[in-house]
Amino acid sequence: KEAKLWGGRFEESVTDAVERFTESISYDKELYKHDIMGSKAHASMLAAQGLMSISDRDSIFKGLSEIERRIENGDFAWRTDREDVHMNIEAALTDLIGEPAKKLHTARSRNDQVLTDFRLWCRDAIDAILERINHLQVALVTLALKNKGLIVPGYTHLQRAQPVLLPHLLLAFVEQLERDAGRLSDCRVRLNFCPLGACALAGTGLPIDRFMTSNALKFTAPMRNSIDAVSDRDFALEFLSANSITAIHLSRLGEEWVLWASEEFGFITPNDSVSTGSSIMPQKKNPDPMELVRGKSARVVGDLVTVLTLCKGLPLAYNRDLQEDKEPVFDSVKTILGMLEVSAEFAQNITFNQERIQKALPAGHLDATTLADYLVKKGVPFRTSHDIVGKAVAICVGKNCQLQDLSLDEMTIINSAFEEDVYEFLGVENAVNKFCSYGSTGSDCVASQLDYWVTKLYIE
Ligand code: ARG
Repeated sequence: KEAKLWGGRFEESVTDAVERFTESISYDKELYKHDIMGSKAHASMLAAQGLMSISDRDSIFKGLSEIERRIENGDFAWRTDREDVHMNIEAALTDLIGEPAKKLHTARSRNDQVLTDFRLWCRDAIDAILERINHLQVALVTLALKNKGLIVPGYTHLQRAQPVLLPHLLLAFVEQLERDAGRLSDCRVRLNFCPLGACALAGTGLPIDRFMTSNALKFTAPMRNSIDAVSDRDFALEFLSANSITAIHLSRLGEEWVLWASEEFGFITPNDSVSTGSSIMPQKKNPDPMELVRGKSARVVGDLVTVLTLCKGLPLAYNRDLQEDKEPVFDSVKTILGMLEVSAEFAQNITFNQERIQKALPAGHLDATTLADYLVKKGVPFRTSHDIVGKAVAICVGKNCQLQDLSLDEMTIINSAFEEDVYEFLGVENAVNKFCSYGSTGSDCVASQLDYWVTKLYIE
């Protein structure tokens, strides 16, 4: 067995079970690029500070580049007995270049190293997620543009409530995603501080320059407190929280589309390319991708809860428990990226069944509130007009007809405020057009919301 990098004081080697149990290389190899980046910045700083010769730095650079190349070509052997990504790369570097490699870990601990890697990794992951959020927003706005004038029932309590323009509904999701992106960007700002040089927990007596490494790695600044630097995982928690909220938004979008694709709603027909079938029922075509978007949100929330629970009650500073922080973050990122990608593809591959939606629109007296507002304009107090329209609806329910089917006589019997112009307020189309408050579903308001997003997202 090869001696461990930390093996100086040990007389016995660890058991196989302990080795298997404590390793993290099986998953933290994901950090290799950032680990190499961090090591190069560290070596440059050590050389600049006279803690390493220029030629040692150069051979470390060459060796690390070669290792990176091998990893990328798949001819790097990750070794469980070398425990984690940091020791795998450092030991491989020693195999490759010999003595100079032994200087690389000067004024560095795996505790600050892993956090440097992890923050860099999260920073890139956030950028990738932001891009996918943007794609989904574009897909939703494009779908809205394709169905500009389509009126659909708006629901509360999943009961028909008021007529709305479809773009208005779709843009509601675009707004949510915008806040999701905002949360991620905020998180990125807060996590972009450099732990490198905090060493094990206390810093070092060697003359390092933490500002230099921080700058080289494009961090805003080195973290002020070395104990905080190696203890803190709130950057990960914040990231996981932001992902969880995004996941919940996507889950709600998924639920909406699953409902809309049902025979009962029949609002949308997904293309075959985003549907799957049943192994027993030959007729089936299911919206599985969006069901799984809904389902996978559970993982993302679970990942957050895992790391919250992991950190609860941990003493300062580094504890090995913290090694368990990475898999949930990797999983959260992988999952959310997939959810965003598939949601965008789904949006690009559905058709709204305009005719069917139109046919079903009269049901549910969607224009009732508009009628109540009409009476308000005639001077009737709202509470009274609510009651009057309620009575009119009751008549319609009894006669199985729409509000617009009532004669003026029938209406004036309930209340004398009704006049001939009432018919301009009835029917879903009239009702939608009466909305004019800022942010409402009126066509002008929705058109300006659409304009806003088209400009903001640079949609042609
Ligand atoms: N693999 C470890 C982790 O992910 C790196 C830090 C280990 N530090 C230590 N002192 N054992 O947390």
